[in-house]
Amino acid sequence: MTAGFDGVARVYRFLEYAAFGRTLQRARVAFTDRLTGCQSVLILGEGDGRFLADLARRLPASRMHCVDASEAMLTLAARRLSVADRTRITFERADARALDLGARTYDAVVTLFFLDCFSTEQVEALVARVSARLRPGAPWLFADFAIPPRGPARWQARVIVGGLYTFFRWRTGIVARELPASERALQRAGLTLAGEREFRLGLVRSAVYAVPAHS
Ligand SMILES: C[S@@+](CC[C@H](N)C(=O)[O-])C[C@H]1O[C@@H](n2cnc3c(N)ncnc32)[C@H](O)[C@@H]1O
Repeated sequence: MTAGFDGVARVYRFLEYAAFGRTLQRARVAFTDRLTGCQSVLILGEGDGRFLADLARRLPASRMHCVDASEAMLTLAARRLSVADRTRITFERADARALDLGARTYDAVVTLFFLDCFSTEQVEALVARVSARLRPGAPWLFADFAIPPRGPARWQARVIVGGLYTFFRWRTGIVARELPASERALQRAGLTLAGEREFRLGLVRSAVYAVPAHS
C-alpha cells in the first residue's frame, strides 16, 4: 500500500478547516447535482466520508463503491452513514492504481483531492483504466488544488501547494512532489469538460468531465 493516511485520518478535517475553511467542501460538492440519476458510483480516495455522506443523502437509492488505501479513512467514512445506507455502499481498502474492477461498470466516478497523490504518468494510467469502465455520458467529478497561470495568485498558490506536498510527503509517505496534469489526462482519455469552478483565486478547482455519449 502506498500512502499512509491512517496517521492523519482523525485530524484531517480539522487541519483542512484551519487552513482553508469550508472551501474544499464547497469544491467537493460543487457538481454533485450532475450525479442525479446515477445508479452506480465509484469513489476513489474518498477520505473521511464527508462527500460520501452528502452524496448518500442526495442519491438515496444508488449503489456506491468507495475505495481508499487507508483503513482509518474508510472507518471514519462508514461511521458517517446510517446503518441502512451502509448496506448499499461497498467499502474496499485497496490501492486504486491496482484496483481489480472485475467486470463492473459505473454511471459516474468521483476523484476529489485524490489524483494529486500521484505522478502524471500514474494518473494517466489510472484514468485510462477507470474511464474504460464508465458508461457512455458518465460524469467524472474532479476537484484538486491548482496553480493559476499568472499573477500574484500563481506565486501564492505555488507556496501553499509546495507546503502541502512537504507536509503530506512527511506525514503520509506519498511520493508525488508536484501537481500532476490530471485534467489533461482526463482529456487525453477522451473525456470532455462539462463544467468548472474556481475557488480562492484559482488555488482550488472543481470540474466535471463527461465520457462521450457514444464511446
Ligand atoms: C488528500 S486525501 C483526500 C481525501 C478526500 N477525497 C478529500 O476530498 O479530502 C487522499 C485520500 O486518498 C487516499 N489514497 C492515497 N493514495 C491512495 C491509493 N494509492 N489508493 C487508494 N487511496 C489512496 C488516502 O488514504 C486519502 O484518504
